[in-house]
Amino acid sequence: MRDSEFDFICTLVYEHSRIKLGPDKKELVSARLGKRLRATNLDSIGAYCNLLKSPSSDDELGHLIDAISTNHTFFFRESAHFDFVRDRVLPEMMERNRVERWPRFYAWSAACSSGEEPYSLAATLAEGLQGSPWPWHIEATDISNRILEKAKAGIYKEDVVSRLPAATIKAHFQKGIGPQEGNYRVRAALRDRVSFHYLNLLKGEAPFRDLFHVIFCRNVMIYFDKETQEELVNKLYRRLIPGGYLLVGHSESLTGIKHPLQLVKPATYRRPPAS
Ligand SMILES: C[S@@+](CC[C@H](N)C(=O)[O-])C[C@H]1O[C@@H](n2cnc3c(N)ncnc32)[C@H](O)[C@@H]1O
Repeated sequence: MRDSEFDFICTLVYEHSRIKLGPDKKELVSARLGKRLRATNLDSIGAYCNLLKSPSSDDELGHLIDAISTNHTFFFRESAHFDFVRDRVLPEMMERNRVERWPRFYAWSAACSSGEEPYSLAATLAEGLQGSPWPWHIEATDISNRILEKAKAGIYKEDVVSRLPAATIKAHFQKGIGPQEGNYRVRAALRDRVSFHYLNLLKGEAPFRDLFHVIFCRNVMIYFDKETQEELVNKLYRRLIPGGYLLVGHSESLTGIKHPLQLVKPATYRRPPAS
């Protein structure tokens, strides 16, 4: 891959998704473009760059972002956050709701990948709000349409699901039979509580208006430069109710960026409550 081709791809990816690819990512990009060359029947990265420069390249741009970005995720990843929702966020918001009377408990999984994060949160809320008349809902968004299709289907391989506690599997998953043998599907009762949408976190408006009690934005900021992280964190701050929580990945620190959030504990921030 020529330097000029790598620079072109990096600029395009940055402009579209704000994912910052450093020089150390050249080999990775080159390897991941191999898949796109095969899919588009092109025989060189130069020809692929020309395709991306053509006026009708929007679809391919989506595929490029898909190929470059990392969708790695798993159920109850960084489980301390789900414990925090169960032990602190829910009791606190239920108490406040006696006075504030929100129509529902509202959460956002802002880079949801293939759905493991919002479904883990849904399982946490289903258990934490069991017996409560308070409705709840989760919005889940990602920049990759391909991964969102997988998330919406809510179908996962047995070896992924079988790592979860037996009680969680029993309560929230249905074992596949016939052609679905070897898969598990998230039960409709949980799937109905999660709405998936395409959203580029740095471009355009989110397709929902209400403010959230908690936002998960984990393991995506790591791909952005400081300037973009600052823009995003401030955007997310404005989507929280006063006293609402922002949870980021445990390897993502907000140190060095300007924002009005309070640090509660590592990877856990809070919009200051209204005084
Ligand atoms: C590593 S996964 C993290 C999934 C999950 N939050 C977790 O922690 O397990 C990162 C996700 O961010 C998405 N992503 C990357 N850039 C994005 C952007 N600008 N807007 C929205 N999603 C983006 C990717 O498509 C990918 O699914």
